[in-house]
Amino acid sequence: MDPLRVGLCGLGTVAQGVLQVLSDNAEGIARRAGRQLQVVAVASRTAKPEVDLGGATFSTDVLTLAGRDDLDVVVELIGGEDTALQLVETALSNGTHVVTGNKAIVALHGERLLSLASANSAHLGFEAAVAGGIPIISSLTNALAGNAHEWIVGIINGTSNFILTAMAEQGQSFSDALEEAQALGYAEADPTFDVEGVDAAHKLTILTALGFGAGFRFDDVYVEGISAIAVEDIEYARQLGYVIKHIGMARRRAAGIEARVHPALVPQSHLLSSIGGATNAVMVRSNAAGDTFYAGAGAGALPTASAVVGDLVDISKSSARLPRLPDGSATPLLPIDRVETEYYLRIPSLDQPGAFARVATILSECKISIEAAIQREQAGPSLDEGQWVPIVILTHAVEEQVMNRALAEVQALPEVVGEITRIRVEQLAVTN
Ligand SMILES: NC(=O)c1ccc[n+]([C@@H]2O[C@H](COP(=O)([O-])OP(=O)(O)OC[C@H]3O[C@@H](n4cnc5c(N)ncnc54)[C@H](OP(=O)(O)O)[C@@H]3O)[C@@H](O)[C@H]2O)c1
Repeated sequence: MDPLRVGLCGLGTVAQGVLQVLSDNAEGIARRAGRQLQVVAVASRTAKPEVDLGGATFSTDVLTLAGRDDLDVVVELIGGEDTALQLVETALSNGTHVVTGNKAIVALHGERLLSLASANSAHLGFEAAVAGGIPIISSLTNALAGNAHEWIVGIINGTSNFILTAMAEQGQSFSDALEEAQALGYAEADPTFDVEGVDAAHKLTILTALGFGAGFRFDDVYVEGISAIAVEDIEYARQLGYVIKHIGMARRRAAGIEARVHPALVPQSHLLSSIGGATNAVMVRSNAAGDTFYAGAGAGALPTASAVVGDLVDISKSSARLPRLPDGSATPLLPIDRVETEYYLRIPSLDQPGAFARVATILSECKISIEAAIQREQAGPSLDEGQWVPIVILTHAVEEQVMNRALAEVQALPEVVGEITRIRVEQLAVTN
């Protein structure tokens, strides 16, 4: 069989990883793909003479490469949005298969790109766009295709997980942990996309589309990052038997699909709690397979290249098993105030008799029941009016709009002397 002719766009971390994997594992890859995978052309902004292109030609014009007629597959690894999108559209319009690691363009334009691929009998592979080396896209698309899913939950941003792990294990503040993550290369100089949850929301958009046929609806995904998490919340959570993780959650409810990214308390005994550092993990609860769990490197040259090459091997087989258009389900994504979770609350309150009782009364009037509570003897600095203590409460599950109403009332109590912290709780109890 003729080799699969690949054009590679970008020559950065992942693209160099792809060249290495294709070279190091050439024999096994050819056996599985049924033919050689040959990178015949590379295009990127800057030439890198030190990188062995294995005989491929080099140019700086990625769009011209994408429009070539003599390539079977174009691999987009330049990142960003505008040129990357144009490049992918050019190749797909030309009937050339595309593999990309670009979560932003898939989350924002996935529907249109998959339609374009389908209209031109091309395939679009994006295993590398979610959780790096973890094969979660192919699991949802192929191995779990016979299931209806109850939920998909993941730790899908390594930077946030690294920071929360450092805060929990070393008692570091958010800003110190972020600085360490930057020094070690786990966080970008501008970490906003990671720590404010946007990167995780891109990935959750893709998981929600594939797992629930809900379309690629990034704008409807609720996004909250980790920058407001305090070390004391991590400590209270620990005393209550929980770990704070930044999660992406897609969950089927009767009224629609919840799709949300935010910090959450997860039981210490749950597998997700043991995922530390920059590692990623995804867990899927399905009606036939039960609970399945996937963990591994969420980024890095070789793990991400592994996902890219996996897509290339799929394409090289006669019928690629890549994601198709979601099934067009009209199921809505629920707004955050319709989401139902348990809550952790930390309420800074004057150290006065009856303060806890007044909080409990408001919660009870709103039909919010308390699962557990801790009240410290003393907390931070004294105020002019007297000492304050944090009232820490875990609640049973309640709709967010009910919690919002209750917290507005609690916040207005004269005993409450600071802003209430609230973090959602996910029990994720194992059922099988
Ligand atoms: N790194 C990871 O671990 C990882 C994990 C999962 C997914 N991804 C995704 O994979 C993609 C690539 O990531 P990466 O880490 O390899 O990025 P990177 O190291 O920054 O590499 C990007 C490459 O593309 C080139 N480039 C950027 N814009 C260009 C343009 N307009 N025209 C031509 N060339 C251009 C860059 O040129 P210069 O050399 O001149 O900068 C560089 O060679 C991104 O979509 C990223 O989100 C990365």
